Amino acid sequence: MFHRARAAEQSQDIGTNTSNNDTIGDMINQRLGRRDFLKNSLAVAALSSVSLPAMAAGTPARFTFKEIEAGSGPYHHVAEGYDAQVLMRWGDPVLSGAPAFNPTAQSAKAQELQFGYNNDYLGFIPMPGAAQPGRHGLLVVNHEYTNEELMFAGIGVQETKEAAFAKMTKELVDIEMAAHGGSILEVRRDEKWTVVEASRYARRLTANTPITLSGPAAGHERLRTKEDPTGRAVKGMLNNCAGGLTPWGTWLTCEENFSYYFRGAKDGHPEAAKLTRYGIPGNMYAWGQFYDRFDVSKEPNEPNRFGWVVEIDPFDPTSTPKKRTALGRFKHEGAAGIVAKDGRYVVYLGDDERFDYVYKFVTKNKVNTTDLAANRDLLDEGTLYVARYKGDGTGEWLPLVHNQGPLNAQNGFASQADILIDTRLAADALGATKMDRPEDVEANPVTGKVYVALTNNNRRTAEQTDAANPRAVNRFGHLIEMTPEGEDHTALTFRWDILLKAGDHMVASTNASFHPQTSKDGWFGMPDNVAIDSRGGLWIATDGNSPSKTGRADGIWAVETEGELRGLSKHFYRTPAGAEMCGPFFTPDDETLFVAVQHPGETEEDFKGPPSTYDNPTTRWPDFKDAMPPRPSIVAITKRGGGRIGS
Ligand code: FEO
Ligand code: CA
Ligand code: CA
Ligand code: CA
Repeated sequence: MFHRARAAEQSQDIGTNTSNNDTIGDMINQRLGRRDFLKNSLAVAALSSVSLPAMAAGTPARFTFKEIEAGSGPYHHVAEGYDAQVLMRWGDPVLSGAPAFNPTAQSAKAQELQFGYNNDYLGFIPMPGAAQPGRHGLLVVNHEYTNEELMFAGIGVQETKEAAFAKMTKELVDIEMAAHGGSILEVRRDEKWTVVEASRYARRLTANTPITLSGPAAGHERLRTKEDPTGRAVKGMLNNCAGGLTPWGTWLTCEENFSYYFRGAKDGHPEAAKLTRYGIPGNMYAWGQFYDRFDVSKEPNEPNRFGWVVEIDPFDPTSTPKKRTALGRFKHEGAAGIVAKDGRYVVYLGDDERFDYVYKFVTKNKVNTTDLAANRDLLDEGTLYVARYKGDGTGEWLPLVHNQGPLNAQNGFASQADILIDTRLAADALGATKMDRPEDVEANPVTGKVYVALTNNNRRTAEQTDAANPRAVNRFGHLIEMTPEGEDHTALTFRWDILLKAGDHMVASTNASFHPQTSKDGWFGMPDNVAIDSRGGLWIATDGNSPSKTGRADGIWAVETEGELRGLSKHFYRTPAGAEMCGPFFTPDDETLFVAVQHPGETEEDFKGPPSTYDNPTTRWPDFKDAMPPRPSIVAITKRGGGRIGS
């Protein structure tokens, strides 16, 4: 347990969901087993037939690019005929006055003006009125977390029990806090993509940026602290993982593993059991050593002010971001939304923890399509639901509403604010389905279907399997496809199916299910982020592949979803060693795919040697200079000579 990825994985081993929600029984496994059998027998028939291409006759392949070889090494790779341009690296200037990046003389002041660490979600918003909307716009980027062993020379890994953060000074902690949060960049494509210098939209958000709590829980006494007696004014956002863009031009950025930043004894804490359900304190950073607000024994309510979806207006750099409490508090992965038939906005949400839940939020009011500013606080009113997946391939959305069902004062929920602050506990009480770590949940605007990436869950036992989470010790994760009733995203029921079970489908014991024509390079493990191109094509980014787990680095795969090729996956891009793949996002013309290479050079979870560090990293991507550590970076992928990505 010498590096953050492994520490994070192990902390999730606790599995904070101790509710005894039913897992669905054997009948379902029988049903699923039979369906899998049918699929597999079709697969065998196809493979044993002489003319394989005949199988594809009915459905033309959506993705015609030549796939890359799966593998791992110090460099990144993209499909033949494509360019992968490093656009922005950790430490590159964002705001005017930013000093040139010097990793041995870094300061918090410099870092506040420079691109932060560990870029995760990214979104591209075309500049209003741009002649070519795919060539000029704002790029919004999350900076999820920091790796002290890769950022700072000579200190090595600090978050282990043995190291005990002994070398973390206040100066280093301040740099870490400044490297968190987000960046807003104006970008333009001419010959190549460039970041517009001194743009009036350029902005850095950090762990100290003033943010307003809004919605039903704002101002509640459980959100008040010594520094903020109003319960409405928070400093910063933490561990922003994935997110989404709204049709009214704002950016939703999601606080995921906020538990990591807290320390301090829970004994005597007024909400000790609730802290436990959220994995607090996570003890993965030294911040509480220097700032009382990150010590739960000194500031008991501070953790309640994190774990929210934050809405930011990227076109107004002076605007105060808002934490939208109506969308609940949990380890928010993403917040991808879609306008429903009746004009209301629906946001799909995953809570990324073993045995946690899939949610959606439906606004009370409709999106105003003529006056975008009128949607300013649309996300403050609406209904949050949690998903229950049934064994017959249907499912229902259970409302998290005060005084409905068990969500009342007798059960510890005195108000809607309590339900939102303790969303996980409220969802436990409703009997939601415990999932294998929900990451992105994303609606396909072309087909109306919703994709759920379940990344893995190696703690699920055989007794705990159910139809929606059918594998015990689910090392490689799976993808669920949901179809809302009546193609209405506000509907309270849905149908669902498993699109694929990840892992090597050529090894029977893995019990993976890709389309049989998927090559040795085309399968993947650990799906995380989901992107959908403008024609409805599905693209998956992964987190957690490694040479010893899957014989491959993380990257991007394109997956067919329709017709006879459904479940056929092809490998498009792969990251350098130790990185995870984040943020895939297409420009509206589908001619650029932006990806975020997060934590290149991080020690892989199952790596047996000494940890990868600043002084001795597994890669120095993307600079490959002896004096430069690996740097998390944004990459712009384009087709040589022009054309749609994937063609
Ligand atoms: Fe930050 Fe759930 O990935
Ligand atoms: Ca991540
Ligand atoms: Ca993620
Ligand atoms: Ca992940």
